[in-house]
Amino acid sequence: MAVLVLYATVEGHSRKVATHIAEHLEDRRYVALLGDVREPGFTVPGTFDAVFICAPVHLGRYPEPIARFIEDWKDALVLVPTGFVSISLSIQSDNPEERAAARTFPEKLSRRTGFYPSHVHHAAGALKYLEYDYFKRLLMRQIAGKEGGPVDASRDYEFTDWDALNGFVDDVIAEIRG
Ligand SMILES: Cc1cc2nc3c(=O)[nH]c(=O)nc-3n(C[C@H](O)[C@H](O)[C@H](O)COP(=O)(O)O)c2cc1C
Repeated sequence: MAVLVLYATVEGHSRKVATHIAEHLEDRRYVALLGDVREPGFTVPGTFDAVFICAPVHLGRYPEPIARFIEDWKDALVLVPTGFVSISLSIQSDNPEERAAARTFPEKLSRRTGFYPSHVHHAAGALKYLEYDYFKRLLMRQIAGKEGGPVDASRDYEFTDWDALNGFVDDVIAEIRG
């Protein structure tokens, strides 16, 4: 069984999420192919038994290549189990309205592309204060402060629940076997 694991990323965390999924699949004896949706030339999604797509939210949207990839390949994607992983910080906000808003991002993408993945998972992302430039650090500190997140910018933070992600991957591949 072969599974395609795709991602787009701005600061690298979605690549880490996708790599974790690929490694978990390999632990389960699947062949996993990992790829950046922006890199042309990877194998056609329709030739895989399942496809995962990992996408981060930046300023309320997923990176544009995610929507373009789904629009281009939706006829093939609809034929196999698909796991969409939405990576955001607001999904773990103290503010219930922010959390509810984070839950609407995949649906908005689906309305645009016309494609509804068979499984959707929300993963909390990372705050990479040490990697942001001055203005991004200021902005992210402000947002984190409003949402009950950490404001000590002298270190990075990673909020992803890896066990919950493994459970999600297992649910998607159970559909292949089913
Ligand atoms: C400039 C910027 C804007 C962001 N905008 C949002 C946002 O609108 N909503 C949200 O929930 N998270 C937002 N985030 C948090 C990212 O989703 C989170 O840091 C994620 O881990 C980034 O993934 P990446 O490293 O793959 O790009 C933002 C992060 C940055 C740096």
